[in-house]
Amino acid sequence: MSRTLFVTTALPYANGSFHIGHIMEYIQADIWVRAMRMAGHTVHFVGADDTHGAPIMLKAEAEGITPKELVARIAAERPQYLQGFHIEFDHWHSTDSAENVELSQDIYRKLRDAGLINTREIEQFYDPVKGMFLADRYIKGECPKCHAKDQYGDSCEVCGAVYAPTDLIEPYSTLTKARPILKTSEHYFFQLSDPRCVQFLQEWTTGSNAQGNKHLQAEVLAKTREWLGSGDEKANLGDWDISRDAPYFGIEIPDAPGKYFYVWLDAPVGYLASLKSYCTKVGLDYEALIDPNSTTEQVHFIGKDIVYFHALFWPATLKFSGRKTPDQLNVHGFITVSGEKMSKSRGTGISPLRYLEIGMNAEWMRYYIAAKLNARVEDIDFNPDDFIARVNSDLVGKYVNIASRAANFISKYFEGQLSYPHDAATLSQHWVQAADRIRSDLEAREFGRAIREIMAHADQINQAFDAAQPWLIAKTLAEADASQRLALQHICSAALAGFKALSVMLTPILPTLAQRVALELFGQTKSFVWADAGVLPQQINPFKHLMQRVEPGMLDNLFEPSADVAEAPAPAALIPGGEPLAPTISIDDFVKIDLRVALIVNCEQVEGSTKLLRLTLDVGEGRLRNVFSGIKSAYTPEQLIGRLTVVVANLAPRKMKFGVSEGMVLAASHFDEKVDTGIYVLDPASGAKPGMRIH
Ligand code: 2FM
Ligand code: ZN
Repeated sequence: MSRTLFVTTALPYANGSFHIGHIMEYIQADIWVRAMRMAGHTVHFVGADDTHGAPIMLKAEAEGITPKELVARIAAERPQYLQGFHIEFDHWHSTDSAENVELSQDIYRKLRDAGLINTREIEQFYDPVKGMFLADRYIKGECPKCHAKDQYGDSCEVCGAVYAPTDLIEPYSTLTKARPILKTSEHYFFQLSDPRCVQFLQEWTTGSNAQGNKHLQAEVLAKTREWLGSGDEKANLGDWDISRDAPYFGIEIPDAPGKYFYVWLDAPVGYLASLKSYCTKVGLDYEALIDPNSTTEQVHFIGKDIVYFHALFWPATLKFSGRKTPDQLNVHGFITVSGEKMSKSRGTGISPLRYLEIGMNAEWMRYYIAAKLNARVEDIDFNPDDFIARVNSDLVGKYVNIASRAANFISKYFEGQLSYPHDAATLSQHWVQAADRIRSDLEAREFGRAIREIMAHADQINQAFDAAQPWLIAKTLAEADASQRLALQHICSAALAGFKALSVMLTPILPTLAQRVALELFGQTKSFVWADAGVLPQQINPFKHLMQRVEPGMLDNLFEPSADVAEAPAPAALIPGGEPLAPTISIDDFVKIDLRVALIVNCEQVEGSTKLLRLTLDVGEGRLRNVFSGIKSAYTPEQLIGRLTVVVANLAPRKMKFGVSEGMVLAASHFDEKVDTGIYVLDPASGAKPGMRIH
């Protein structure tokens, strides 16, 4: 039965470029969507930029542009990544759109009419200089527990304590350094604690869709149970604060001047806004697709960090505004690079754009990510050596190799004609069944398992080919009898029928390669669908090279800064009145400088010097170092003793008038010594330990 699906990926914040974590999610969803389409289902696959909220507003302000300009700039970058990795969204939209304003406000009104919105005065930190309320991440201060300095408003990175921003000692606004004041304001709440919501969420989280698939993976359900209570326990779901005060880049709350929806209220509504905009564009009936009684399956791919929003807030928002609720939430883990965690804002060492710029094949990445993914919420690791091995040995060495070996004999000796023994039906049946298993693995998001099975088939095909030693028959073909000729044709035909079937199975993962195989090698008029796996090819065109191997050196280049960063224009203009940047260096140049965290164990005046202080430093080496530093005009010894700083630890010792200096302490100052704007010793964030290297 043909199904209709509405599929989304999490909407990326429009304050930064895509990182490899985004690309991984899109590749996962894209493979799934392609596999469903190959089965004849109709899929509407949409994305959008998530544009609202304080970080985007503040970033735009820092750049001297409007939030809309920032959003437009980021939106303009998106296509090169999406096309580059063959990610075929039907439509890409924005939460800063007319559709989203209308839908978000309509949803809100419906929730209000259902009696699920209330208001309450809340007291919050407010930056009197900036004139805005401060989210926890913009407040820092001393940890009330361990007294570490400069800790965020919600938790301490040093001792792990969790607290309210108002518990911080000496709080300050990270925006202006001003001391925040407490101010009350009226906030709007979505009453998730209402028994109707709790009951609905208990049903929805444990429910299944029309296909019999659970709405949630087991691990995700377990997580929602913690939040929701599991029936007899009482739900510990709080009401959800959905309003923010101006200034805020967001959507206005109807009938509430100066109030905006919190970005997480309107962000998932962006899924609907994008679908709606797409429907308008191509003439589809939007209302029919999202009607509560529609059979459209609504499927969201997301990362594990945003489950709370998608498994609780979002279904409840939809339900109580009279809409269709999601049919499946597909949650994936994070991607690490060589075991290193990625930062949400900075990404990892791998820039997806850099990957494309240096000419790496997007389908290598699609294949590698697919090989690593399964249907559970597990992190996956991008490991360069593993990447090379899988692409070169498996993808090229096992799969692509089949065609290059078998096709040449067929073209050379049989004019491209294939031929099968009498039991061709068995061969066909074999591939029908194999493809069916892969189709169902892909539908179940068991991509790694699918690839293991595909490679096992490739091994079998190669082994059968090797065992038959067709090259020996080919060598003596001139003297060979008809039956030997036929044997050679059969061996190669069977290998090519297998190659075709594997290409069908790999089509969702390697769409452009598989399309070339379909069109160029097998002379089809369109890309493969699942049913093609069992249709034994009768003829081939001459084999053309299909895929390069990865050159290991490419991966070294991958971790260098992106070309657009390396070739940035002379940066003098970027720093008004400042010192032009020194010439660009490579990462190899940088790593020659060994920067270490140092504890200033002691500090004293240097008799006879107007500039220097003598520092005794612990650089974690089990000995102390003596370093002279020209910072006397800015610090007294008392101010420095006990502080951490950063030192160039592998600088050759230098003999000075007052003794030997074994390193250099880093400090900031105006580039022109004559301009006295102060000297500021570098200070690692608390938690750093003497001897740690600075990368
Ligand atoms: O976590 C994020 O990156 C959010 N921008 C995801 C939003 S998903 C949806 F709700 F829009
Ligand atoms: Zn602490």
